[in-house]
Amino acid sequence: MQQQKGKHPSESRVEMVEVVLPNDTNPLGTILGGKVMHLIDMAGVIAAHRHSRSVAVTVAMDQVQFLSPVKVGELIILQAQVTAAFHTSMEVEVKVFSENLLSGVRRPTSSAFLTFVAIDEKGQLRQVPPLIPQTREEKRKLEEARRRRQIRLRKKGKSRVNLTGRKERT
Ligand SMILES: CC(C)(COP(=O)(O)OP(=O)(O)OC[C@H]1O[C@@H](n2cnc3c(N)ncnc32)[C@H](O)[C@@H]1OP(=O)(O)O)[C@@H](O)C(=O)NCCC(=O)NCCS
Repeated sequence: MQQQKGKHPSESRVEMVEVVLPNDTNPLGTILGGKVMHLIDMAGVIAAHRHSRSVAVTVAMDQVQFLSPVKVGELIILQAQVTAAFHTSMEVEVKVFSENLLSGVRRPTSSAFLTFVAIDEKGQLRQVPPLIPQTREEKRKLEEARRRRQIRLRKKGKSRVNLTGRKERT
């Protein structure tokens, strides 16, 4: 595969804002976890599209925790950015906040790391541009992403064994 020109993390940055509507909440008026996960996936895939300029599919979403509720009528804000690009896969970090419209108070709600794979129109894997971290923080995130990738790939092997009863070929 031909090496592509590198891109900076800022080129894939995404901010998505939505008002939380009653249809997306439980009887207590707080947003459903599944809705937040959907929005995390959407913000993440847009960042992956921007980095790769190709179709991208989700292959992994790491553990997601919900730290504080987002209430009906509040804003839910999602910030996503590519933290690492490997060969055909990219890791994206998504941070979620709530914002009260009247007071302006903003609270962190969740964060998640997702992995997307770039594919072409035939569904074949596609190489993605390398990521060029600029700041010290972006370089640290890239190092951490490399370690997380190893853990994910080990877990993927174990999941395959659980689902199929067959061991991964190495
Ligand atoms: C994307 C897909 C075609 C990749 O197939 P695959 O057999 O896993 O392919 P490979 O093992 O060659 O892996 C391809 C890349 O994905 C990465 N990858 C695959 N599974 C991964 C996982 N669980 N976590 C992190 N990275 C993963 C590999 O490391 C590799 O990355 P690299 O090219 O940057 O080194 C296949 O997993 C698929 O179709 N998954 C379903 C995608 C989908 O439909 N998502 C929506 C929700 S179901």
